Amino acid sequence: MSKKSLVTIAIHYSSYGENWQSMLQERLEGFSVRLWPDWGDLDEVDYAVVWTPPPGLLQKCSNLKAIFSIGAGVDQLLVDPDFPRQIPLVRMADAVLEEGMAEYITLAVLSLHRDLLKYLNFQRKADWHPLAQRFPKDQNVGIMGLGNLGMAANSALQPFGFQMSGWSRSKKQIKHMTTYAGMETLPDFLKTLDTLIVLLPLTDETRGFLNAETLSLLPEGANVINAARGALLDIEEARQLLDQDLLGYLWLDVHHVEPLPQDHWAWSHPRVVITPHIAAATLPGSASNFVATNILRMEQGSMPSNIVEISAGY
Ligand code: NAP
Ligand code: GLV
Repeated sequence: MSKKSLVTIAIHYSSYGENWQSMLQERLEGFSVRLWPDWGDLDEVDYAVVWTPPPGLLQKCSNLKAIFSIGAGVDQLLVDPDFPRQIPLVRMADAVLEEGMAEYITLAVLSLHRDLLKYLNFQRKADWHPLAQRFPKDQNVGIMGLGNLGMAANSALQPFGFQMSGWSRSKKQIKHMTTYAGMETLPDFLKTLDTLIVLLPLTDETRGFLNAETLSLLPEGANVINAARGALLDIEEARQLLDQDLLGYLWLDVHHVEPLPQDHWAWSHPRVVITPHIAAATLPGSASNFVATNILRMEQGSMPSNIVEISAGY
C-alpha cells in the first residue's frame, strides 16, 4: 500500500525531459514531478506526460487521472494495445507549435510556388533560366485537416492571396476559404488544387488514405506537402504518380519509417523534398504551461481542454 501525500506527475520524453521536469516543477509548486526512468511507485502516478512511452507502461499506472501527449498527434500512444483508453487523454495545443507549423507550411508552399527547387537545380548547372512567374490569386491551395495546425497554416497563407480551400470531417465556415467535409466531397475538394497540404491526424480512417486512387483525383502536376504523419501516404503509389509526371513535387516532413533509411529511394528523387520531422516541435517553455494549467483545472474538479475522442482516434 503506497503512502502518498503529493500529486505526482511523471514525464517520459527523451528530447527535453529535464527541461519539462524543471518547468513543470516551477509551475506546479508542491507537486512531485518525476522523470523517466525514475517514476518510482507506478501506483502513485496521477498524471503522465508522454511522447512514446514503452508499450504497457501506462496500463500499469493504476491511479492515473489523465495522460498528456507531448505531441499534437496521439497515434503514437493509441498504437499500444494496452493503452488505458478509459483515462482522459489530452493532446497538445500550443501557440508555439502552431507558429512552427505555420512557418514550415509557408516555407514549403512559397518554395513550390516560386519554383525554388527548380532554380536550385539550375544553379547547380550554372544555368541562367528564368521561368514564367505565377501569381497567388491563380493558385489553388487546399488544406486537409482544419484543426489547430490546419487553421494556423491557413492564417499564414491567406495574406499572400492564394485561393484557399479546406477539407475536414465536420463542415466548417471559414472566411476566405471554400470548405468541404466528408468523403463524398473529396473529389470536388481535390480536383482543382495546385498544392495539397496534409494536416490530418493518423487514425483508422486516415491510415494510407493518400494513395494512387485519392492522389489521382488531383490535377496533373499538383504538389503534395505532408507534415502530419508518414503513414497517411502510400509512398510507393505516390512514387509511381511522380514518375509518370502525374504529381509535381512531394514535400515530406514525416515518413512511413522514421528515421527514413539511408538507402530509401526518396532521399535522392529529384522531385521529393525530405525534412526529418521538424515542422513543428513542442517546446517545453510554452507547452508546459498548457499541461500545468490543465492539471490545476483537474485538481479543482474541472475537465482539461483538448481531450481526445478515443473512438475517433484524435
Ligand atoms: P486537430 O486539431 O485534431 O485537427 C485534425 C483535423 O483533421 C480536424 O479538422 C478534423 O476534422 C480533421 N480530420 C480528422 N479525421 C478526418 C477524416 N477522417 N476526414 C476528414 N478530416 C478529418 O489536429 P492538429 O493539432 O491540427 O494536428 C494535426 C496533425 O499534425 C497531428 O495529428 C499530428 O499527426 C501532426 N503534427 C505533425 C507535426 C510535425 O512536426 N510534422 C507537429 C505537430 C503535429 P474535424 O474538424 O471535423 O474534427
Ligand atoms: C508531432 O509530430 C506532434 O504530433 O506534435
